[in-house]
Amino acid sequence: MILLGINIDHCATVREARYRDAVEAVGGAVEPDPIALALLAERAGADGITAHLREDRRHVQDRDIWRLRESIATRLNLEMACTPEMVKLALELKPASVCLVPESREEITTEGGLDVVGNREKVKVCVDAMNAAGIKTSLFIDPDEPQIELAAELGAPWVELHTGAYANAYFGDKRAQEFQRLRLGCARAHDCGLTVNAGHGINYVNIAEVRTLPHLHELNIGHSIISRALFTGIEEAIVTMKARMNP
Ligand code: PXP
Repeated sequence: MILLGINIDHCATVREARYRDAVEAVGGAVEPDPIALALLAERAGADGITAHLREDRRHVQDRDIWRLRESIATRLNLEMACTPEMVKLALELKPASVCLVPESREEITTEGGLDVVGNREKVKVCVDAMNAAGIKTSLFIDPDEPQIELAAELGAPWVELHTGAYANAYFGDKRAQEFQRLRLGCARAHDCGLTVNAGHGINYVNIAEVRTLPHLHELNIGHSIISRALFTGIEEAIVTMKARMNP
C-alpha cells in the first residue's frame, strides 16, 4: 500500500487571497479553513497532512500549524526551509516529520529540489537537530545519485523525490527519460536504506505510472486533489486518488 499525504497549502492560498489583510476576521468567516479540510481529508483516508510554513508566510500561517498539530489524528509533516528560525519552531511544534525544501535561490538545484550537495553543512545541522528530537527528516531532492547518497550519509531517514520534472515532461519527449530517472532514484534511495517518498505535480492521470515506481512509501499530493475537490468535495477527491494509487 502506498500512503497518501495531503498537502493543504493550496487551501490556505485561497483563504489568503481574500483574508490576508483581514486580521480582525475570525472563525467561520475566514474560509476556506485548511484545518477543516485536513480533518475531512483524514476522514476520507488521508494518511498524513503536509503543510509548508514558508518564510514569507504566503499561504500557511503559524497559527495553522499549531491548530493542525492539536487537531489532526494522523501525522503532521511540516515542510520548511533549512534555517535556524524554522529549526527552532519545529523543535517547539514537534511534528511527526519535517520535509526540508529549498526556498532561496542558492538552495535550489536546476530541477528544483533541495541542493543537499551544495548546502551540506546547513542540511546537516537541521538533520542532526531533528534526529536528536525524534522528528523524522525528509529531504525533498531531485532523483540524482549524489543528492540521494548524501541524504543517507547525513543521517536523514527519508527522502521525497521531486517528481516535478517528470510531471512537466508527461506529455513531451522526455517523459520516459524522466521516469527512468525517478525509477533509478527510488532504487538507489532504497539501497541506501532510505524510506522513499515522492511528490510534486502528481495528478489523477500520471498516478497510473507514478504508482509503479519501486519502493514507494508515501506520495505527497496537493494541487490535483484540492482542484478536484472544488467540484467533487475533498472526500471523493481523496477516495478516487487512493483507489488509483492502490488499485
Ligand atoms: N512535495 C513537496 C515537497 C512540495 O513542496 C509540494 C508542493 O509544492 C508537494 C509535494 C505537492 O505538490 P503538488 O501541489 O503539485 O501536488
